[in-house]
Amino acid sequence: MSTTPYPVDQITTVQDDTSSDSPTAIPPSGPIIEPTKSLANKPFLKWAGGKTRLLKRLLPLVPETFVNYHEPFVGGGAMYFALRTRVTERSFLSDLNEDLINVWLTMQKPNKEFENALSSLLERDSKEFYYEVRAQQPKSLAEQAARFVYLNQTSWNGLWRVNAKGEFNVPWGQRPFRSFSPDQLSLIRSSLVDTEIRNEDFRSSLSRARPGDFVYLDPPYLPLSDTSKFFFYTQKRFRQPDLEELANHCRWLSMRGVSWMLSNRDTPLVRTLFSESEIIGITTHRSVAAQNGVDRESRKSPEVIIRGGYA
Ligand SMILES: C[S@@+](CC[C@H](N)C(=O)[O-])C[C@H]1O[C@@H](n2cnc3c(N)ncnc32)[C@H](O)[C@@H]1O
Repeated sequence: MSTTPYPVDQITTVQDDTSSDSPTAIPPSGPIIEPTKSLANKPFLKWAGGKTRLLKRLLPLVPETFVNYHEPFVGGGAMYFALRTRVTERSFLSDLNEDLINVWLTMQKPNKEFENALSSLLERDSKEFYYEVRAQQPKSLAEQAARFVYLNQTSWNGLWRVNAKGEFNVPWGQRPFRSFSPDQLSLIRSSLVDTEIRNEDFRSSLSRARPGDFVYLDPPYLPLSDTSKFFFYTQKRFRQPDLEELANHCRWLSMRGVSWMLSNRDTPLVRTLFSESEIIGITTHRSVAAQNGVDRESRKSPEVIIRGGYA
């Protein structure tokens, strides 16, 4: 896997769920309290745009049971972890960000090199060491995954952002590295059984959906204007033509008897593209980073949950 950069113009807007109450509050060692309520059902990564906070609104709208589950914009997978017990057969998780998917794939199987790399990062954790790791580009996939986890837990707000040269450039977040204990890794692994994980574009992922399956779609939101400061998850940015194509795919899913649900910003474009489907408006609170990159404020953000293909 290459260390292809994911250039980002500038981050000032952070989508809703990068809060400290979402994924990574994990102790380094010691007893695991109520393990089934922890890592097997929660994302193991913090991810901008993660849906943990919205689950209470989203889950009641998901079918009680379905054959296969598809999540083509999986990110940290908040939805997958919340509903995986409703899946009768397999789950298909994918995302275009290859560094992210490398971590998911590494988590799926026991991997000594990965565990050793996590241990040595834990031993040396400090502010100075953070900047050393940030500057490195490890060669092996296991070390790349360990570096990703380290930066995810210790960078400012858990953001993954690189500059135009492909260098990760998020400042230290004043947070200690907690890593994962062997027990925690084993719990995560157990939550990824019967799961196929791929680094691919949503168009390929959706071709796998069959009648009786359920698809959850959480694509990147389009910037509010050409000049709005926005960050990008992947080198290939998600733009209006992508959203238009996604709307066509959703129409096709409905016609084939595949139920689907999509989260997005509430805009006239989104409402027009999905006018044939059920649209539910909601208001969420987003954390918005101020220009200094540290202070945050909460802003109301109108969003929609869109559904189709329900029998
Ligand atoms: C809003 S985030 C999803 C967050 C996720 N729901 C969670 O709970 O963490 C959008 C994701 O779409 C991915 N993405 C962007 N363009 C894509 C594409 N064309 N195909 C598949 N994934 C894409 C990004 O890498 C990012 O992880």
